[in-house]
Amino acid sequence: MIQVAHTADVDPATLRAARALLERVFEGDFADSDWEHSLGGMHALAWEGDELVGHASLIQRRLLHRGRALRAGYVEGVGVRADRQRRGHGAAMMDALERIIRSAYDLGALGASDDGARLYEARGWTRWPGPTSAITPEGVIRTAEEDGCIYVLTGAAELDLGGELTCDWRDGDVW
Ligand SMILES: CC(C)(COP(=O)(O)OP(=O)(O)OC[C@H]1O[C@@H](n2cnc3c(N)ncnc32)[C@H](O)[C@@H]1OP(=O)(O)O)[C@@H](O)C(=O)NCCC(=O)NCCS
Repeated sequence: MIQVAHTADVDPATLRAARALLERVFEGDFADSDWEHSLGGMHALAWEGDELVGHASLIQRRLLHRGRALRAGYVEGVGVRADRQRRGHGAAMMDALERIIRSAYDLGALGASDDGARLYEARGWTRWPGPTSAITPEGVIRTAEEDGCIYVLTGAAELDLGGELTCDWRDGDVW
């Protein structure tokens, strides 16, 4: 069962369980800022009975591209409990979030891990082939280490895939 709810409507115990799940799934490589990036938008929570087995969220960001500040539905905090992977939970959570992206945003975007890339590619997301950068307090700075890891779900926005994609600023990992 997939529960879709805004952060404001997810009870605090479930949010704690989701964060603990992500910390386990990412084997300690999940910082406070990574959790913070997952808040303030819509969560897709995968349940098996009363057990939480997966989490993904969608937040709004601005992505600068060809002189426009696109309204992006940005996917964060995607993880399925290790013993419940490859059973369709990741796909079911993405179904729910992609519906929201298609109806409410100019495009979808995310920064992918290797596992994640396989899931998103299987679902028709496009790896951004052009250069990436971020708007920082010091100005626009290239994020070359992220090139090749950013995926987009194209919607109504006209995109020049060879062009530059620039994300807005935040603490922690910018993409
Ligand atoms: C990425 C992740 C969320 C996928 O969740 P999942 O529930 O296992 O995914 P699904 O079972 O819905 O997979 C759907 C399809 O995606 C593709 N896919 C997903 N994981 C894959 C993998 N590890 N290897 C190859 N293909 C994969 C397959 O096409 C799969 O369909 P199939 O099982 O019929 O072949 C999960 O592997 C995970 O939590 N990984 C660790 C954390 C992480 O990297 N999260 C992503 C951050 S961007």
